[in-house]
Amino acid sequence: MRTFPCRRGPPAPPPLPLVLLCFLAAARPSLADGHAPALTFTSLPVQEEMLAKYSNISLESHNISLTEHSDVPVEKNITLQRPSNIELTCQFTTSGDVHSVNVTWKKGDELLENNYLINATGSILYTRYMFTIINSEQMGSYSCFFQEEKEQRGTFNFKVPELHGKNKPLITYVGDSTVLTCKCEECFPLNWTWYSSNESVQVPLDVQMKDKYVISGKHNETRLKIMHLSEEDQGSYWCHAIFQLGESEDHVELVVLSYLVPLKPFLAIAAEVVLLVTIILLCEMYFQKKKQPDDGKEFEQIEQLKSDDSNGIENNASRHRKNESVGQ
Ligand SMILES: *[C@@H]1O[C@H](CO)[C@@H](O)[C@H](O)[C@H]1NC(C)=O
Ligand SMILES: *[C@@H]1O[C@H](CO)[C@@H](O)[C@H](O)[C@H]1NC(C)=O
Ligand SMILES: *[C@@H]1O[C@H](CO)[C@@H](O)[C@H](O)[C@H]1NC(C)=O
Ligand SMILES: *[C@@H]1O[C@H](CO)[C@@H](O)[C@H](O)[C@H]1NC(C)=O
Ligand SMILES: *[C@@H]1O[C@H](CO)[C@@H](O)[C@H](O)[C@H]1NC(C)=O
Ligand SMILES: *[C@@H]1O[C@H](CO)[C@@H](O)[C@H](O)[C@H]1NC(C)=O
Ligand SMILES: *[C@@H]1O[C@H](CO)[C@@H](O)[C@H](O)[C@H]1NC(C)=O
Ligand SMILES: *[C@@H]1O[C@H](CO)[C@@H](O)[C@H](O)[C@H]1NC(C)=O
Repeated sequence: MRTFPCRRGPPAPPPLPLVLLCFLAAARPSLADGHAPALTFTSLPVQEEMLAKYSNISLESHNISLTEHSDVPVEKNITLQRPSNIELTCQFTTSGDVHSVNVTWKKGDELLENNYLINATGSILYTRYMFTIINSEQMGSYSCFFQEEKEQRGTFNFKVPELHGKNKPLITYVGDSTVLTCKCEECFPLNWTWYSSNESVQVPLDVQMKDKYVISGKHNETRLKIMHLSEEDQGSYWCHAIFQLGESEDHVELVVLSYLVPLKPFLAIAAEVVLLVTIILLCEMYFQKKKQPDDGKEFEQIEQLKSDDSNGIENNASRHRKNESVGQ
């Protein structure tokens, strides 16, 4: 890891000072063999020069505290968007002999050699790793390990800022316009871009279609206005932010409804009302029949009268009978 500025630098030929640094780094006597004596921080010319070169960039210091009885690895998420000098410190408290604890650092699974310092004060062992993050490959997790009987681990995860789209789908209607937004906290992306996703393929939005898409926003927020929505506009929209140290993305789900859809509930209600009224009417008729059977008879009689009418002669006789019964 000593020579990482050469191995991990940007693809372009490294600037001269960097090359010099690498020579210096290679020439520097290794501390690996002298693990035990390294109990006080010694001056590391490479790191000092490296930090001097990047002295105009900010220093990020983070620490993790571990004990021999910790059950779970300790983790810290660190948001980083610009090249920075990094100082990571792990402290380990033990009841045993601090000199018999093995200290190592790893980036992911890769062992970082020698570029760290170890010191001890009483029962506390400190280890500090200083380096510079200048490109996206240097992002990731850096862990310190303290190995006694049990191994304890502290991990620093370096990530670019996360974006926040919307976790709920945005509901819109055909013909309308809508605005999708995406933001990040305290972030300064170099560039924002929008993609629409057709199935699983992300297609960059055609920003030339000025009557369809308008992209605006501030440094920490981007807004995509989509006009004249049609059902084909439905789908996922992805916002990408490019930072100096990597990229981040999130998405917003857009649902485009036709105007018939919102009418559906009303149609359903109307249908229900019609059904209810019918049921009520039928019930009423049924109960009226049951409660007042006379009405039924009268109805039958009227029917009969009608048929009598058509029969002619007997007509009068039956009417007489009826009048008599009413008269009594
Ligand atoms: C630091 O200095 C380098 C070169 O001297 C320059 O390229 C870089 O932009 C500077 N960074 C900041 C944050 O000023
Ligand atoms: C460790 O980090 C915390 C913040 O995360 C800070 O308050 C504390 O002073 C740091 N301790 C040391 C020894 O640097
Ligand atoms: C760090 O981030 C990971 C994934 O983003 C998350 O699962 C974890 O809980 C975070 N840890 C802390 C300490 O915030
Ligand atoms: C060991 O390093 C820690 C953390 O940087 C520091 O606070 C402490 O003073 C150092 N102790 C010695 C003896 O150098
Ligand atoms: C520490 O590492 C050395 C050499 O790598 C090994 O001999 C020793 O057993 C290790 N100690 C512990 C406590 O694991
Ligand atoms: C975006 O930046 C502005 C200042 O430029 C700030 O007022 C606002 O709170 C920031 N928004 C977020 C989500 O961080
Ligand atoms: C942002 O990204 C888009 C698409 O990759 C590109 O066309 C545009 O030039 C970039 N803008 C800046 C300022 O980098
Ligand atoms: C989306 O994909 C389908 C088939 O997978 C294709 O026919 C259609 O043209 C694509 N639409 C866009 C906007 O790329």
